[in-house]
Amino acid sequence: MSHSQFPYSRPRRLRISENVRSMVAEHSLSVNDFIAPLFVMEGSKEKVEIPSMPNYYRFTQDTLLKEVEEIQKLGIPSVLLFAKVPNEKKDNEGTEALNPKGLMQETVRAIKKEFPDLVVMTDVAMDPYSSYGHDGIVKEGQILNDESAELLAKMAVSHAEAGADFVAPSDMMDGRILLMREALEEMGYVNTGIMAYSAKYASSYYGPFRDALDSKPGFGDKKTYQMDPSNVTEAVKEAVSDEQEGADIIMVKPGLPYLDVVRAVKESVHLPVAVYNVSGEYAMIKAAAEKGWLNEKEAMMEALIAFKRAGADLIATYFAKDAARLL
Ligand code: PBG
Repeated sequence: MSHSQFPYSRPRRLRISENVRSMVAEHSLSVNDFIAPLFVMEGSKEKVEIPSMPNYYRFTQDTLLKEVEEIQKLGIPSVLLFAKVPNEKKDNEGTEALNPKGLMQETVRAIKKEFPDLVVMTDVAMDPYSSYGHDGIVKEGQILNDESAELLAKMAVSHAEAGADFVAPSDMMDGRILLMREALEEMGYVNTGIMAYSAKYASSYYGPFRDALDSKPGFGDKKTYQMDPSNVTEAVKEAVSDEQEGADIIMVKPGLPYLDVVRAVKESVHLPVAVYNVSGEYAMIKAAAEKGWLNEKEAMMEALIAFKRAGADLIATYFAKDAARLL
């Protein structure tokens, strides 16, 4: 028997036309896969383009509702909310994060009132509220773990109270999923989901996002809590423990440079796996397309299908609207 089965096997037969290619495609994208991130700021009647994220905006609550309407019309089932907090409301304890009338809480209420079926997810993290721009309480240059996790659990309850369907902790403190789950149960929010950023890496690809929220760390970096890009076994450990602590969806972040991590995590947990196609990944495609160096739509769709191929069930992406229009 020869090694090659040629000419009996000609793989090109299955690539011969668009229809044949579609029939044998192993993966596909659907609008149901998308989570659209949204940035909200104080004020009214405004939307501000984020310089490092062309055609992506920060909205005030009123303009955000119009954006949400568009998202819903495109069939995208969920949004992930981030709040930009003015400097004078930031402190080391994240006080404003627990304000029941805070920007995040009020925005959740407004969205759920107008669009009760939309799945509203909220970012649970201290950095937009922290005078140090860190995801935890700072003491003597260290990021405190347990005190920060306690605060995050209260924040999760506050978002649930406002009507969030899922809370999405993006901080990487140890043990926070358990504390959050216990707090939600105790307060009666038994159906509030947790989408855990389980494997979140200390990545340079978050640059444009930190511009959007003005949330750059004021000193040092995030390497004592976010993961080292060298590691994958550790990502599996984080994912498995978050599953045990009560998470409902496991997230890997960033996306494109971490497809192997998506695969490894998908094979290790019995939960849906989400991937975050982060701001820097969006900026790279946008910038290259602006220069005429890449075809934006093709590069975007290729990146999105890669997430599915790697095993992702859900994709948080700034391309959600653009991709939904093409599907
Ligand atoms: C912060 C947070 C970050 C992102 C989501 N939540 C940035 C960071 O950890 O510094 C990044 C998202 C993106 O780059 O698109 N808790």
